[in-house]
Amino acid sequence: MQVFAFNLSPFRFNLSAYLTVWPFNKKTTIAASGTLAGATDHHSHILPGVDDGVETMNEALRILATYETLGIKELWLTPHIMEDIPNTPQKLKARFDELKAAYTGNITLHLAAEYMIDNNLRKLLNDNKALLPIGDGGKHILVETSYYNAPIRMNETLQQIKSMGYFPLLAHPERYMYLDNDEYLKLHNEGVKFQLNLASLAGGYGTTVKKRALWLLSNGLYSVAGSDLHCEEAIEFITKSGLSRQNIEEVKRLLQNRI
Ligand SMILES: [Fe+2]
Repeated sequence: MQVFAFNLSPFRFNLSAYLTVWPFNKKTTIAASGTLAGATDHHSHILPGVDDGVETMNEALRILATYETLGIKELWLTPHIMEDIPNTPQKLKARFDELKAAYTGNITLHLAAEYMIDNNLRKLLNDNKALLPIGDGGKHILVETSYYNAPIRMNETLQQIKSMGYFPLLAHPERYMYLDNDEYLKLHNEGVKFQLNLASLAGGYGTTVKKRALWLLSNGLYSVAGSDLHCEEAIEFITKSGLSRQNIEEVKRLLQNRI
């Protein structure tokens, strides 16, 4: 299987090669640096058959097996909930139970959701419906927007989430072209937390997104990191992404962070 073709397990990492290469090379990869050992992935579409992510239980189980070889310890399954994909907590919990029953490995699995800021979310909030929060204390709601235009009533919706006792956790803020540096800082100062997509640092969404991610990273604005994994093939791209020593240390910290 293609994703097993590269052996980048931190536990099988060649220490002598590390000591020889590391001081002279300014870049290493996320996997080769051991960054994923003990990590928590805070954003994924691995729960099968419920959104535009992984489609089958078998693919989900293969991804979890690969995650184990990389040393990942915890995984948040965050299926989309939006107007076009109106998942309900009941449906997602039932599918989550099926995945947990089929999975016999050691990764701790959690269920949350990625909410698009749209009419569907505003209705859920207005109707005081139960949400699927993310994080240890159930205090955060993972939200996203379209990439090019701010959603209508974005600030009002974020405020509504906060008034219900949650922190909004903005998924992949580096991808939102309508935000500039001042607006990132403003949102951050207003209590919106940020989640880094690992593929952004690898250039998976282009150089502009990569630059934004490095700026947010170097300014310490991210709280946690995630893969936003939609398919098995994307694992290799993420784990092979090259980063500087300084950025690797910051990514490692984000992958160990808990919210
Ligand atoms: Fe996502």
